[in-house]
Amino acid sequence: MSRAAVVCGLGGALPATAVTNEELAAQLDTSDQWIRTRTGIGLRYVVAPGESTSDLAVAAGERALESARRKADSDSDAAGTEAEVDLVVLATSTPDRPCPGTAPGVAHRLGLGTVPAFDVAAVCTGFVYALATAASMITAGVAERALVIGADTFSTILDPVDRTTRAIFGDGAGAVVLRAGESGEPGALLGFDLGSDGGGADLITVRAGGSRQRSTGEPPAEGDQFFAMEGRPVFTQAVINMSESSQRLLDRVGWTPGDLDKVVAHQANVRILHAVGEQLGLEDKQIVVNLDRVGNTVAASIPLALSDAAAEGDLVPGHRVVLTGFGGGLTWGSAALVWPDIEPVTRS
Ligand code: UT7
Repeated sequence: MSRAAVVCGLGGALPATAVTNEELAAQLDTSDQWIRTRTGIGLRYVVAPGESTSDLAVAAGERALESARRKADSDSDAAGTEAEVDLVVLATSTPDRPCPGTAPGVAHRLGLGTVPAFDVAAVCTGFVYALATAASMITAGVAERALVIGADTFSTILDPVDRTTRAIFGDGAGAVVLRAGESGEPGALLGFDLGSDGGGADLITVRAGGSRQRSTGEPPAEGDQFFAMEGRPVFTQAVINMSESSQRLLDRVGWTPGDLDKVVAHQANVRILHAVGEQLGLEDKQIVVNLDRVGNTVAASIPLALSDAAAEGDLVPGHRVVLTGFGGGLTWGSAALVWPDIEPVTRS
């Protein structure tokens, strides 16, 4: 057995306002039928005016810490109850401001003192990248206990007249607590597979707002302040990269697809989830789906899917799980673990 990062808390948060497909169809040239059949999505949540990514990140972080506290109490682990988080990693591509990072403010609002806190920007793969970063810092002895949050508010950067992106994306946040432990324990992160292909950077992008556009001194071209995505090539790349990344990780961990109880993939489109399942030779019951209720919540997608699956008893202690994500960059990443006995907190 070797030192490992162990998942010991899980939380999720959604904004109060739900938007149904019918409500979108009243504003845009779309329909409940198109959205459901082409994406599987039925509902998404959006922040209120003035509400931001950090608000959701704080709510999810609080809940993950509460979940970790309950776990430590039930294990009568006094050290675990008292242990302070000494690292915060926030995956987001919709920070509160371009500068500084959003994570230090989140750590401050959570009352975590002067812990190291930083953002990771890998769009929909952000949570897996953040998990790998925090887990590596724990195994290296740089941290003992980390709060890893995925939070995004894409509703704040969508083009109001883009029926495709508005149908898909929703806001949300999810978080896990990691603690130092042993590789043989349930919840230990057993391995990662991470990758990128910057040749596809223009497929998922916000063109304006960064240093390249600002350095020209010209105002952004009309529409460049909004998020833009080329759906079809992204769909193809998502299927290829989540399947191949999952398979590489399975080979490394020594599992076969048949050994897996659950694949928790980035929730972008139910057709992508089924295509990944087909590539890996999985049955439907092995694939976690919650996008019907929340849409594509970007960096929050995987922890929110974990929360829902664990709360509903679809994901149970002892399950062999692979998490896999794909998104802008292009980026992709997967993580493997045996699911621990933890209770997610999704409501305060
Ligand atoms: O989260 C990061 C990774 N993101 C993803 O993985 C997203 C990957 N891509 C997708 O999920 C899909 O490509 C979309 C859901 C974005 C689009 O679905 P599609 O089946 O690939 O549609 P399409 O873009 O090929 O468009 C097919 C038709 C077009 O009409 P025409 O040209 O055939 O007349 C679109 O204009 O569907 C039309 N369309 C819509 N119709 C009604 C596109 N969006 C809508 C809409 N309502 N909301």
